[in-house]
Order: sequence, then structure tokens, then C-alpha cells
Amino acid sequence: MLPNVLRTNAADHVPVLADEVLELLSVQPGETVVDGTFGAGGHSRLLLEDLRSDGKLVAIDRDPTVRPYFDRLKASVRGVQLRFLRGDYAIVLRQLASNGVRADVVLLDLGLSSMQVDRPERGFSYATDAPLDMRMDTSDESSAADVLASWSERELATIFRSFGEERYARQIARGIVRRRKEAPIERTGELVDVVRASIPTPARFGEGHPAKRVFQALRIEVNHELESLEAGLPAAFEMLRPGGRLAVISFHSLEDRIAKRFLRDRVRGCTCPPELPVCVCGREPEARLLTTKPVRPSAHEVELNPRAASARLRVAVKMDNA
Ligand SMILES: C[S@@+](CC[C@H](N)C(=O)[O-])C[C@H]1O[C@@H](n2cnc3c(N)ncnc32)[C@H](O)[C@@H]1O
Repeated sequence: MLPNVLRTNAADHVPVLADEVLELLSVQPGETVVDGTFGAGGHSRLLLEDLRSDGKLVAIDRDPTVRPYFDRLKASVRGVQLRFLRGDYAIVLRQLASNGVRADVVLLDLGLSSMQVDRPERGFSYATDAPLDMRMDTSDESSAADVLASWSERELATIFRSFGEERYARQIARGIVRRRKEAPIERTGELVDVVRASIPTPARFGEGHPAKRVFQALRIEVNHELESLEAGLPAAFEMLRPGGRLAVISFHSLEDRIAKRFLRDRVRGCTCPPELPVCVCGREPEARLLTTKPVRPSAHEVELNPRAASARLRVAVKMDNA
């Protein structure tokens, strides 16, 4: 059979690092799989194939517009129990873990789906003029326009710098505060104009779109993406049965750092200071890494899907004693 990265049928949306995810998660018939970031269901569809009509799949997403993708997937499978739970995976996984639900596999494929980026009315894209929304969960209170209207110059500069690694964070925050005194910034096009006007002329023509980093930072803030990951990882790990696998695909260095730190802490055994002659903490490793370094997409995958370029996959297996 063709590797997944080479499947070109448009109806078969090929998810990021598909072959690597399937190989490392090695789903077996009868297992329970939790897809914490269902999106268009690309990974779920492939993981379901490995269940071979025997097992359970729990799909979670905070975006209500993914529901038709789940319904379509559900209608196409036999034998597997499928359930969709709408909400922040950090909250849903915690509830499932507290209710004693156990899983053999939890997958988190972080960030935005292509369909969110490609629908201009969602306000995630700097490429088309649209309302500045950026909420993954459309029932959330605060949109990107609300953040731009209410945050101080210093707070805006901090998120542009830390979540967007934006070099001109301070200048852009100052430009936003100046502009909003004249009129609220409510459209993506208006934000792009402010960014362009706030940065030095050569930076407007540098690599990539000049507003890319500011849009990324705002999206991470509006959706509390890092908080969800910090809270979701322990809940996901708690849900796993011994031998269960946890996979995280991140697209941003801050996300990857959180995943790396979390997994490293589970893998570490004794935490006694080196000067102690014997271990007194008695701590045993709770997990084993299946990826010592993050797995990156091949050049071929990036050529076929440029959005995969920054993806990094980390996978660990829960030990029997954990
Ligand atoms: C990169 S896409 C997943 C794509 C999916 N793996 C596929 O193959 O179609 C990320 C999805 O996760 C959802 N998402 C992001 N953060 C979330 C969170 N904290 N809780 C629940 N869903 C989240 C987004 O709404 C989006 O649909």
C-alpha cells in the first residue's frame, strides 16, 4: 500500500506526520483511542483503520464546526464505538480521567486545522480581510478584536514577543494602541495595515508575511492554547492504561517545550541530588520515550504540505508501574 504521505485523493485529507504517528502509536484491535484534537478527522480515520472494526474512538474538539466531519466518519465505519465530545481537551480529558475512563492511545495534534485557516470568516488568516475573530470555540467570550481593544500596550507587546517571537513587538503594540484611539481594530485587514505601518520598511518585504507572527501570537492568546496543553498533558497521561501511548504534534517552539518537559519528567526516575550516596526519593520512571528526539516531517511531506514544515512529534509509552 502507498505510504499515507503519497495518497493524493483530495477526499482523503492527509494529516501531518501520518505514517510516523501510525507506526509509533501502533494501535491494535480492541483498543481505546482518544483523539483530543479531531479537526477534520484525518488522524482519526487512519487510527480507525488500525482498530480493524474492533475498539473505541473518542473524538474531542472545541470547534463546533468539526461535527459534520465526525458524523461523516461515524457513518463510514462498522464495529467501532465512536463518540464525539465538544470542548477543550484539557477539560474533557480531565473529566474522562476522573470518571475512570481509560485509553490505550491519546493523540494531540495541536494548533489550527486547515479548514479553520481556509475559512476567512473565522478571522485566522492575514491573507483575506475578515472580522478579527480567531476563536476556535465560537461560544468563547473574547475574540482577537476584544484582546486588541482592551489589552495594554505592554501586555500586547509581551504576547507578540513570547507567543510570536516578533522582533518588532513593542513598535506593533504601540501602533495598535495609537490606531485604536481613532477607531477600534475589528478586521484582519486593519491589523495587517497597522503591522505594516509599525515596522521598518525592509521588514515589510522580508521572509514570510509581515503579520504572520502577530496573528499566531493573538491566536494562541485568544484560545489559551498553552494553558490547555499544560493542563491537558497530565490528564491525558492519567487516562492512559499501562502500556498506553501519548503522542503530541506541536507547531511552535513553546508548545514543543511544554511537551518535552512534561514527557522528560515522566521518564526521569530518581530525583535525588547527585551528592546523596543512595536514592531516598524512591521515584521510578513512569514512562519511556518512543522518540528520543522530536520526529520532523520529511522534505517530501513538506513539499506536498508546506503547513507541516514546523511540525514536531513526540511519543511516550506509560510504564506498567505508573
Ligand atoms: C491541527 S488540527 C487537527 C487536525 C486533525 N488531526 C486531522 O487530521 O484532521 C487541530 C484541531 O484541534 C482543535 N483544538 C485546538 N486546541 C484545542 C483544545 N484545547 N481543545 C479541543 N480542541 C482543540 C482545533 O479546533 C482543530 O480542529
